[in-house]
Amino acid sequence: MTYVPAADRHERMVYNRCGNSGLLLPAVSLGLWHNFGHDTPHQTKVAICRTAFDLGITHFDLANNYGPPPGSAEEAFGEILRTEFRGLRDHMVISSKAGYRMWEGPYGEWGSRKNLIASCDQSLRRMGLDYVDIFYSHRLDPDTPLEETMGALADIVRAGKALYVGLSSYNSARTREAVAILKDLGVPCLIHQPSYSMLNRWVERDGLKDTLAELGVGSIAFSPLAQGMLTSKYLKGIPQGSRASQHKSLDPDTLSEAALARVRGLNDIAAARGQTLAQMAIAWVLRGGGITTALIGASRPEQVTDCAGAVAKLDFSDAELAEIDRLTLDPPVDINLWSRSSEGA
Ligand SMILES: NC(=O)c1ccc[n+]([C@@H]2O[C@H](COP(=O)([O-])OP(=O)(O)OC[C@H]3O[C@@H](n4cnc5c(N)ncnc54)[C@H](OP(=O)(O)O)[C@@H]3O)[C@@H](O)[C@H]2O)c1
Repeated sequence: MTYVPAADRHERMVYNRCGNSGLLLPAVSLGLWHNFGHDTPHQTKVAICRTAFDLGITHFDLANNYGPPPGSAEEAFGEILRTEFRGLRDHMVISSKAGYRMWEGPYGEWGSRKNLIASCDQSLRRMGLDYVDIFYSHRLDPDTPLEETMGALADIVRAGKALYVGLSSYNSARTREAVAILKDLGVPCLIHQPSYSMLNRWVERDGLKDTLAELGVGSIAFSPLAQGMLTSKYLKGIPQGSRASQHKSLDPDTLSEAALARVRGLNDIAAARGQTLAQMAIAWVLRGGGITTALIGASRPEQVTDCAGAVAKLDFSDAELAEIDRLTLDPPVDINLWSRSSEGA
């Protein structure tokens, strides 16, 4: 049956301006890192995307290597764009990235002009798109001059293959340099994509969050649920089929009794606020407008519905924030595998 998007979808979501740009992004965005490869039925992917779009989630985040196998998430999303989402391209913001290993040999990863431009072309072919809205350098390449990587991003925009560019996981100092180079090239940096959650605060310690605010660059916080730890799902053990049970990116060893004790405390605060823990984790990332959008993942449509519900209560009392800090900063933990910036901040 032809998919007809919910007519009131934009009323269900909050949209935030991305830095100093003209682009508005939904407060909750959907990433296709997990659950969009060959290991997930196509109908599940369709249901997740439809549910997200119906809730006003207009931003879908991809990368060349999302799968498994690498590239298959872009292929699956391309199929959804051609079928379910046919005619809706101008209603969505689609991003992709290059930098992690995508093909064998010396040109299939990192930040050379050779890698970025070839990879962008491949991503467009897989998704069947003329352009992506945002194209990222997925990680800093310490062995390639920043001028080369930023020059490639700027040329991708000039060639009409992306509307905007972004950086992912660059620390504060390298972000300043990259943003200055892009400004000189006349292609401003739209957005930065770092990991950030109540359990992973490197962007605060490194100064990146303040730097982005100062530079007028938007921000999209990935893994705001710490890959599922900041939900109620692991409170009674590791459920079958959950990410921690799959031995992929979430190491079950991070679900220690000490870590879960903190999560239980956070769960109590969320319940007192009338939210699920996932909703509070998303609202916390967005608190005070410091972050443009929270970038979640989902293995089921119901999770997207739960997460999008975060926008119903985004404000925190000082007492709630202090209690969250006490539970998560004493001592600090970075229990997310993807917690560090490209330069180990
Ligand atoms: N730039 C980078 O280097 C980078 C790195 C990593 C991720 N990302 C981006 O960030 C996106 C999100 O990352 P992520 O998937 O780690 O984010 P996340 O939102 O922290 O974790 C998503 C996982 O949490 C669980 N979950 C989500 N909603 C839930 C709910 N309401 N109740 C219970 N469990 C829930 C699901 O786990 P189960 O699967 O166990 O159900 C889901 O797969 C990626 O898709 C990608 O676009 C970027």
